[in-house]
Amino acid sequence: MYRFISMVMNVLGIETSCDETAAAIVTDTREIRSNVVLSQLETHAVYGGIVPEIAARAHLEHIDKVIQAALSDAGITFDDLDGVAATCGPGLIGGVMIGMMSAKAIAAAKGIPFIAINHLEGHALTPRLSDDIAFPYLLLLVSGGHTQILVAEDVGVYKRWGTTLDDAAGECLDKSAKMMGLPYPGGPNIEKIAKNCNNPVTARERFPLPSPLKGRKGHDFSFSGLKTAVRTHIEKLPKGDLDPKDVADLSYALQNQTAKILADRCESAMVRFLEEYGEKTDNPTLVICGGVSANQTIRETLDDLAQKHGMTINAPPLPLCGDNGAMIAWAGIERLQRGQNDPLNFQARPRWPLDPNAAPRHGAGVKA
Ligand code: KG4
Ligand code: ZN
Repeated sequence: MYRFISMVMNVLGIETSCDETAAAIVTDTREIRSNVVLSQLETHAVYGGIVPEIAARAHLEHIDKVIQAALSDAGITFDDLDGVAATCGPGLIGGVMIGMMSAKAIAAAKGIPFIAINHLEGHALTPRLSDDIAFPYLLLLVSGGHTQILVAEDVGVYKRWGTTLDDAAGECLDKSAKMMGLPYPGGPNIEKIAKNCNNPVTARERFPLPSPLKGRKGHDFSFSGLKTAVRTHIEKLPKGDLDPKDVADLSYALQNQTAKILADRCESAMVRFLEEYGEKTDNPTLVICGGVSANQTIRETLDDLAQKHGMTINAPPLPLCGDNGAMIAWAGIERLQRGQNDPLNFQARPRWPLDPNAAPRHGAGVKA
């Protein structure tokens, strides 16, 4: 048993950049030996969103036992680790510091490499952990804080083609859900409630929603107009608690429109990807990742679009869509395999773009 463990590389991945305290053990043979995710959903639910100070405190309270659980689920100890990777940005700095400092302490105590991971790269490299997808691929990163289209050329080499000018798609779903009286996080609740919509055609007619930037050149996104339109529809409904039928219809219309907007902006990126990278890949692929990529309607809409353009779609298995430690451990392994690790005085980065050369965008939702 010990010999087997010593033959593969075991890396601990720690994720604390938002509202999940997560740790996982992953091997260089792409085995997820453990993946522990402790969600703070109930802690933040009463506030209808994440409170950074409360999140940091909760990470501090739980991080040790989450790491211990990851080790024991994997059947290993600190002595069997070959490296420790942690999210060092972008994200809520209080939480990031807790995961990063825990990782540095383990690395220092055990004399093993520390790897500082960009949270977005964790999402971006997940399809290589789950499905061994080869570079280059087109990547739609769609989460609570980000909505970006990038080309992943290699580990650490990303070309950002588009980003949101205001809200992220997940942020729009979360804020709209709150307006409808649905609990946080909005995305999964909107998906659930939209299933109660009995007549999709009528729902879209009752609640028409805009397509910001539709047909516009480039691949940027905008979601704040969609959120405002939801508010306007709600204001026209009878005062007080909303009728569940109205909530179901509006949730359906919103989910459907979010999928359409993502597809519209992705389509031109697909055409460009095939032109610029078509010859560099045998299997042109659109990868969707980040929390919102768990949404079935969005997956199906993008799948149809990919098929139309002769591309394959790849989306991680649901447990790897949201924030987790396995994606951070895997990003650490990819870096270790390339001889990269980081010094223990590495500074956390609240903002950390995947493509440092991309032109900056100045919007409320633009965090990288
Ligand atoms: O990647 P993630 O877990 O955290 C960030 O890095 O932001 O993404 C969280 C976002 C939230 O906005 C949440 O509402 C959304 O992902 N989300 C979904 C679904 N599951 C999570 N949105 C739509 N449908 C879902 N099933
Ligand atoms: Zn994330």
